[in-house]
Amino acid sequence: MPKILAAITAVAGYVPEDILTNADLEKMVDTTDEWITTRTGIKERHILKTPGKATSDMAVEVVNQILKKSGILPEELEMLICATVTPDTIFPDTANTILDKVGAKNAFGYDINAACSGFLYALTTGAKFIESGMYKKVIIIGADKMSSIVDYTDRTTCIIFGDGAGGVLLEPTEDGTGIIDSVLRSDGSGREYLHMKAGGSLRPATSETVSNKEHFVFQDGKPVFKAAVTGMATTVKQVLQRNNLNIDDLAWLVPHQANMRIINAVGDMLDMPKDKVMVNIHKYGNTTAATLPLCLWEYEPQLKKGDYLMLSAFGGGFTWGSTLLKWHY
Ligand code: UT7
Repeated sequence: MPKILAAITAVAGYVPEDILTNADLEKMVDTTDEWITTRTGIKERHILKTPGKATSDMAVEVVNQILKKSGILPEELEMLICATVTPDTIFPDTANTILDKVGAKNAFGYDINAACSGFLYALTTGAKFIESGMYKKVIIIGADKMSSIVDYTDRTTCIIFGDGAGGVLLEPTEDGTGIIDSVLRSDGSGREYLHMKAGGSLRPATSETVSNKEHFVFQDGKPVFKAAVTGMATTVKQVLQRNNLNIDDLAWLVPHQANMRIINAVGDMLDMPKDKVMVNIHKYGNTTAATLPLCLWEYEPQLKKGDYLMLSAFGGGFTWGSTLLKWHY
């Protein structure tokens, strides 16, 4: 019997209308377009400014696009996993809210918190529900409203992040296309370099945590940078090796969009030609869990059935990993 794989059968993305440019940031903090461009590759990011709108609202745009594209009714959806570090509320989870807002009355879902690796963790998890035969229609979302946890007086972080959402539909296939293999890793000793200090059970919100600005992203960039390059490149090699593939077999490398210098360094370590590396960081910045599906969404017209894609990410935790898939359409 042919093996059942989980294939991506539709992809969608959404970024809010409002744009925050490097020129805007020059007026807000002590920075320059030149510094941001050369150090990160980012020119602008999209910010969700509409009052009362949250991560779930961006995800709803994505789910509705996916349902429309694939001709599926909301009631037919069975499961949704939302990767995010900016849930609408600490509880209930954002996946629940998304399912309610799109009218997916027969589905269940939950959130995965793995920072910038969240989409990979969620994709791998969702794929297992398909491969086991348990479900046939699973949506995986990566969505973050980073502007809700960014300190716009901190020049070391506010220039990096943007808001956005992306997602894919997973369905079973028996033609050899789909998600083939993943190496996923985590190392909690890296948590000190990238985290939010307060708001959880360790340091619940108080007037002191608010005045100390402990509800914003904290990042010590250099150690994260180094670990990201090594972690992404190493796991790409591991996945290739155990599937008897070479870098030349890949049609595309889909790297997490954290910093153009990280993307270039990973590409160089792997000897991956630049025109086979997906890049959109200049337009969106680092949208955390949304970067990978936003890349797939933008490059979808260039993808061909049978293309090998390698997705790779690194993020807070530390969390990281790489996933190999064969494009379905
Ligand atoms: O997606 C999750 C994972 N996250 C990442 O992968 C991010 C990894 N880290 C990075 O991308 C980079 O480390 C950053 C973009 C965050 C920082 O770039 P860097 O080249 O590592 O700069 P740095 O932190 O070493 O700072 C160099 C200098 C410092 O000044 P001094 O101490 O040399 O005088 C900073 O204060 O640049 C200064 N600086 C800035 N200057 C102008 C830091 N931020 C800015 C800024 N504008 N926005």
